[in-house]
Amino acid sequence: MSAQIRLVEVTDANRAAVAAVRVDPAQERFVASVEKSFQHAAENPAARPWFRAVCDGDVPVGFVMLSWNVEPGAGVYGPYFLWRLLVGAGFQGRGYGRAILDEVVALLRAEGAAELLTSYVPGDGSPEPFYRSYGFVPTGETDEDGEILLRLPL
Ligand SMILES: CC(C)(COP(=O)(O)OP(=O)(O)OC[C@H]1O[C@@H](n2cnc3c(N)ncnc32)[C@H](O)[C@@H]1OP(=O)(O)O)[C@@H](O)C(=O)NCCC(=O)NCCS
Repeated sequence: MSAQIRLVEVTDANRAAVAAVRVDPAQERFVASVEKSFQHAAENPAARPWFRAVCDGDVPVGFVMLSWNVEPGAGVYGPYFLWRLLVGAGFQGRGYGRAILDEVVALLRAEGAAELLTSYVPGDGSPEPFYRSYGFVPTGETDEDGEILLRLPL
């Protein structure tokens, strides 16, 4: 299934609607909320946060945030790190997640990026199968919070 989405800049006009996109409560241990992501982005300019709302038509259905061309270092993964990815509870399983990755991958290839890194919290209901089916593979590393690192060659 291929879903039609747009990655849209977050502005004062759409911010509240984007922040209203939430995962299922049972998934909250795997991903921080959109509001928290705005906060994390504001608090960590050195992580070079880049984020977009994900819209189907004018309806916000998800959110994505990357560290964009960051200098890798101690505890900092990059240059391109998928920091946050979520699709709203009522919108999951329709191909949006995969479509978001397709858009991000196209942007990164245009930048000349060689790989996209991410990490996930292991456990029942984790996004691991989603990432693995897309082509991400474990790097063999675990971060300081016990998250498992994955890479997608581009
Ligand atoms: C992970 C997530 C972004 C996937 O988005 P989605 O729109 O539901 O995914 P898609 O509909 O594009 O699914 C693509 C494939 O992955 C599978 N998939 C999606 N989420 C899955 C999960 N949690 N477990 C197992 N498989 C999953 C789908 O079944 C589908 O497989 P198929 O192509 O064989 O049918 C979404 O479920 C989500 O927001 N989860 C909660 C937050 C989260 O864990 N984010 C990642 C943080 S690291």
